[in-house]
Amino acid sequence: MERKWWKEAVFYQIYPMSFQDSNGDGIGDLKGITKRLDYLKELGIDAVWLSPFYKSPNDDNGYDISDYRDVLTEYGTLEDFDEMQREMHKRGIRLVLDLVVNHTSDEHPWFVESRKSKDNPYRDYYIWRDGKDGGYPNNWDSRFSGPAWQYCPETDQYYLHLYSPKQVDLNWDNPKVREEIYDMMDFWMERGADGFRIDAAAGFSKEEGLPDGIPRKQATGCEHYLNGPHIHEIYREMNQKVFQKYPEIVTVGETFGVTPEDALKYAGNDRGELDMIFQFQHVGLEYTDGNKFNLHPIRLSEFKASLSRWQVALDGKGWNSLYLANHDQPRSVSRWGDDQKYWKESAKMLYTMLLTMQGTPYIYQGEELGMTNTVFESIDDFLDIQTLNAWKVYVEEGDDDPETFLKAAKFIGRDNARTPIQWDDSKNAGFTTGTPWMRVNPNYTWLNAEAELADPDSIFHYIQKLIALRHESLVAVYGNFTEYEPENEALYLYNRKLDGQNLFVALNFTGEEQKLTVPKEILEAQKKSKLYVSNYDNDGVICDRMIRPYEAIVYEWE
Ligand code: GLC
Ligand code: CA
Repeated sequence: MERKWWKEAVFYQIYPMSFQDSNGDGIGDLKGITKRLDYLKELGIDAVWLSPFYKSPNDDNGYDISDYRDVLTEYGTLEDFDEMQREMHKRGIRLVLDLVVNHTSDEHPWFVESRKSKDNPYRDYYIWRDGKDGGYPNNWDSRFSGPAWQYCPETDQYYLHLYSPKQVDLNWDNPKVREEIYDMMDFWMERGADGFRIDAAAGFSKEEGLPDGIPRKQATGCEHYLNGPHIHEIYREMNQKVFQKYPEIVTVGETFGVTPEDALKYAGNDRGELDMIFQFQHVGLEYTDGNKFNLHPIRLSEFKASLSRWQVALDGKGWNSLYLANHDQPRSVSRWGDDQKYWKESAKMLYTMLLTMQGTPYIYQGEELGMTNTVFESIDDFLDIQTLNAWKVYVEEGDDDPETFLKAAKFIGRDNARTPIQWDDSKNAGFTTGTPWMRVNPNYTWLNAEAELADPDSIFHYIQKLIALRHESLVAVYGNFTEYEPENEALYLYNRKLDGQNLFVALNFTGEEQKLTVPKEILEAQKKSKLYVSNYDNDGVICDRMIRPYEAIVYEWE
């Protein structure tokens, strides 16, 4: 396996709107990020993935860009960006930018032109079609509910938007569009950025003729644009025209709906496309018939099977990215742990898993503190366009049960991850001196960075330790993966091995004591074992024993 900095690095994702406000307007900003870099350095991370900070009307919190080469006014200026980047680099932290190029904002100058007339030079930058039989050009859904088409009376045509009507899909079949994007990527690379996280990366290439999709509850039509016909040509071209000029950079594609087999096409060694992708299988298991707002409980064995499958499938052939949360997912401790009685233990257990798997770990802001899902009384408490649109279409205009919907939205809604970072127990958690754009999670009075920095037993310090250990342990990064007892509904057991070095990992996913039976070959083969890490007091002698609620224990053995 080829060694790379980005394989050995631990990434941290910043969602700028909620990270740190520096001027009291209630909105996080770039100066706020700069102010907190020592905190990130202390945590020990190597790179930041920064969610969009570009000019945007913020229909989808910056994932709708109206100027790719400038900073959102509320976030600061290009000079603030340069300063932030310089200060990161000074601390040895690399900076990966979000590249949102499946679509632009409808306020982007290209689209302002494009909608003017059918012969406008920018017309073909987007995807325009005539209606069919008095209706939409086809039956595709927006991923934010409702049709994927918006009518424009100026020219009596519809434009395609796979997300909101203010996020207009670019026409990647147009070579001019591709050149513009590559140019813009150069702009940021030359400014000193270290890579890209590519948004909605599997959806750029739409099938010719835009045929109707098989009707389904959500995302009808997706089989005609996910992993579309020219998607791999696009990434090869991007790689040749941009990535190759900057050999040290890293690229990661956000690819909804891909299998490990697809992943190896995007990011297999020697494909000449991307370095890695974000897969979605482990975060979609609770959906009922693909519906995010109708959930069912899952068994631990399903969750494990999903993760283990990727560990094995990409070993030696590609590279995984590992995550438990991001700005589109709820808080991990509320989802897979216990955010009440075993809050601390279970958050530590989950991150023991993340940091002892093969791949590059991504920690979403606040996860290092064990931040939890927040409190919503009713639909009026939600801000996220995805949740609000789905409510409107499925509940208000459709016949979905409001209780079921709300239960799901509280558990899985994207707003859970977007509450401001809890820095201390002062008003608004030290996030802002003004009124925060989004309500702070009320548990900030006891759950905050200041308290955790002062507590040697905190989640922060435990994750800090896991990061430091990983930096010194090639087996944690590169070792192969063998799972034991995949059918066990309480424990996740696996071994990592590189040359003669091993890590045996045992994780209790329940609030009860469980019996840990060490795999025979490990019990017999072990001559020397020592403790690698644990979230409870433990010694390092591998043996059959009881494992406590949400206990995580990792043994190093030869
Ligand atoms: C990605 C982003 C998400 C956004 C969507 C549209 O999935 O992570 O936040 O809403 O793309 O850009
Ligand atoms: Ca601000």
